[in-house]
Amino acid sequence: MVLQENPENDNITEPLIDPNNSLPQHSATSSYTEPTRSIPTPIGSTTFNMSFVFSLLVSVGALLFASTVWYITSTADYIFFIWHPTLMSLMLLMATNGILVLQKAESRQEKVASLNFHKAMQSIAFLSIIGGFYVITTFKNMGNKEHFASPHGKLGVITFSLILIQSIAGSTLVNFPGVVGGVAKAKAMYKYHRFSGYLVLALIWFTALGGTQNPWVKAQFDHLWVWLLAAGMVFVGTVGRVKSSKLKVW
Ligand code: HEM
Repeated sequence: MVLQENPENDNITEPLIDPNNSLPQHSATSSYTEPTRSIPTPIGSTTFNMSFVFSLLVSVGALLFASTVWYITSTADYIFFIWHPTLMSLMLLMATNGILVLQKAESRQEKVASLNFHKAMQSIAFLSIIGGFYVITTFKNMGNKEHFASPHGKLGVITFSLILIQSIAGSTLVNFPGVVGGVAKAKAMYKYHRFSGYLVLALIWFTALGGTQNPWVKAQFDHLWVWLLAAGMVFVGTVGRVKSSKLKVW
């Protein structure tokens, strides 16, 4: 399996599973130390780190966006179209959290576990965007409407294409490293996948925000601040957790 080797040659030598400890372990050899602060609580002092707060911002922001869309689509009069925003919001939720889980992975076992979550979430995102794209194009065909006419539609088809490329490229690096010349070369290319992943994530959110300004959506729910709050939380949380050293591509 690809991941039995140390991802990105980070010189971490501990075994994948510590036989003396069945609980999830935080690496003692990790070079990264989270900033922690002791805070008093009614049942004693505890510590928190900013990374956790940023993580909450991202997850809650993405859930706020997706659940608001699902509220709209579940309360509106049923038309086939509603599956488009429903599936696209699932895609956005999965793609956002699928990036979040990998951001702080440092040790070998953290990377293995996080990559498994990443693969699962991005697989759901991949299927959701295909479904969401199929729904909107079929719906438009049913009404003989012009395709990719609005700014959201144009940006949407670009986002759709880039997600397909990003997903296929990522899956190839992890599952078929031989295609790019072997495991070592594939791992050396992770940084490009990471960099383009952030760009695609930004595009996903811009596209989704554009969708919320469609007249049909606004007729159901016209509270721009909710969408902006959700996107702002995700932006602050994601940027707050970025490790700039992991983003150097040249
Ligand atoms: C990042 C996620 C999304 C992508 C990639 C996406 C993609 C697209 C594409 C490609 C079209 C045009 C299809 C065609 O013309 O044949 C479209 C249309 C549409 N989308 Fe989305 N969409 C996304 C999210 C959303 C969301 C979250 C909403 C609503 C809250 C939404 C609402 C609409 C509406 C109302 C249309 C029809 C009008 C138009 O073409 O602009 N979309 N979408």
